[in-house]
Amino acid sequence: MSVHFINSETIHAAARILRSGGVVAFPTETVYGLGADAFNALAVAKIFEIKKRPYFDPLIVHISDDDQFEKLAQVTQAAKDLARAFWPGPLTLVLKKKPGIPDLVVAGLETIAVRMPDHPAALDLIRAAKTPLAAPSANPFGYLSPTTSKHVEEQLGEQIDFILDGGPCLTGVESTIIDLSCERPKLLRPGGISAEEIEKITGPMERQISASMPTAPGQLKQHYSPRKPLRILSIEEMKSHSKLSKAGILLFSSGSAPEAQPPIQATAVEVLSEKGDLKEAAANLFSALHRLDKSKSEIIFAEPMPENGLGLAIMDRLRRAAATFE
Ligand code: TXA
Ligand code: MG
Repeated sequence: MSVHFINSETIHAAARILRSGGVVAFPTETVYGLGADAFNALAVAKIFEIKKRPYFDPLIVHISDDDQFEKLAQVTQAAKDLARAFWPGPLTLVLKKKPGIPDLVVAGLETIAVRMPDHPAALDLIRAAKTPLAAPSANPFGYLSPTTSKHVEEQLGEQIDFILDGGPCLTGVESTIIDLSCERPKLLRPGGISAEEIEKITGPMERQISASMPTAPGQLKQHYSPRKPLRILSIEEMKSHSKLSKAGILLFSSGSAPEAQPPIQATAVEVLSEKGDLKEAAANLFSALHRLDKSKSEIIFAEPMPENGLGLAIMDRLRRAAATFE
């Protein structure tokens, strides 16, 4: 295992590994990805093996230009409109696939998930590898997503030969996934671009952010989880909880912190955004959860956040983390 700062040499070294069927961890604006050549089934199989990811859970394919998009998917007008508005960026589009894509990438589905990441190193890497990259988040299946190269190193370092370090991810939650393969656009996973922003272009979307499987196999109810149990509780509920002194606490803003102060004797406290900004909170979410998971606390209490803008993605991740321990 080795972590490499990004420069043209390390990008090209990573691209050579990808071209010869290896896997590389790389930064995107959302979370770190674990990438392989999307057209090389054996390389893609390594991703599933390293993550211990079930084979029924399809991958997102990352592209650097429109030609690659056309090669992978049947690009509709709605897809073009959304791509023009939000790519490169934290938006994944699900469309009918084109022939020639390994079944493993799409888990045997007739659709494919594609996104153009907004990170210069990710785009340079795809260009240098001269192939789209199938890449899930670079974490063991079900665990907290990685937003720094250190998270990747700690969780999967022994199994990955090459980690590109591009610093902390600026968006911090995964991409928003929109299914455009049916008549009406459907929100499958809230993420780095708010549903409100997307609906300005698509009009009202259907929402299927459910835990049940078929169309979004990866939208499992239990996901994004720390090792410690996590509960979503109001500050009042935290204060009267018998485990308070053993808890690590995740607060939205410092607005909630003063109340949480003296009477609350928790083991660790993380504030996601001093000024209560949802974008900043999303960017800090996984790092704060990683720290709480490593702290001396036995349990994590998370304060509910407002569910508008990026708050929808944050609450989606917290609910799935909490569901693991129900
Ligand atoms: O921000 C992101 O999207 C990050 C970075 C690395 O790009 N990637 C990411 O990948 O979050 P992953 O594998 O952790 O999540 C991909 C999700 C899964 O829930 C999967 O089920 C869904 O995308 N997905 C992939 N292909 C699909 C398809 N054809 N139909 C429906 N859902 C699909
Ligand atoms: Mg993931």
